[in-house]
Amino acid sequence: MGPVMTTIRLATPADAKAIAALSWREVEQHWPWHWNPPSALSAMLDRDANVALALGADGQLVGFGVMEYHDDTAHLSLLVVNATARRRGIGTMLLRWLERVAAVAAIARIEVEERRSDTAALAFYASRGYVRSGVSGYYVRLCKALAQGGGAAARERSP
Ligand SMILES: CC(C)(COP(=O)(O)OP(=O)(O)OC[C@H]1O[C@@H](n2cnc3c(N)ncnc32)[C@H](O)[C@@H]1OP(=O)(O)O)[C@@H](O)C(=O)NCCC(=O)NCCS
Repeated sequence: MGPVMTTIRLATPADAKAIAALSWREVEQHWPWHWNPPSALSAMLDRDANVALALGADGQLVGFGVMEYHDDTAHLSLLVVNATARRRGIGTMLLRWLERVAAVAAIARIEVEERRSDTAALAFYASRGYVRSGVSGYYVRLCKALAQGGGAAARERSP
């Protein structure tokens, strides 16, 4: 599939329902619904977290990512792209945006956990420079060291 015009921006409270609906539809419907509207709202109001959105050319939500910042590490809590929009670089754009913000905040390392069975997500993180740092039950821990000094981009467009 070819590239798609995509805008990345921070979420606002008005986006909470759309974020929760996307998470439910694409990831969570078989599990307890963690990223429900109140959780999405609370993540975007949390000073130690960022919720970044990817919007298509029509302004519709096509993906989102949540990063939580600690002292020198950040934790990628969730990254989701609508199934109909995958393999067009949108996950990469969201991740890069969140990584740049983390680098500006002097974060040295990003961590993420992924299910061992989720070969697509594991392939995605490997392609983005994440390496395995451990295994815990059904989950693989992955991490990436950040080069410091990347500028935070408020908006980013695909080619
Ligand atoms: C993981 C996810 C966010 C990737 O988003 P995406 O927009 O499709 O990713 P990109 O298009 O930026 O992919 C970048 C690279 O990752 C790798 N990749 C992505 N999806 C892949 C797949 N299904 N199989 C193999 N490699 C894959 C490829 O190397 C790809 O580059 P290419 O398309 O040029 O070959 C998306 O598949 C998703 O939302 N999955 C469901 C939710 C999930 O599991 N999230 C991760 C847990 S937090």
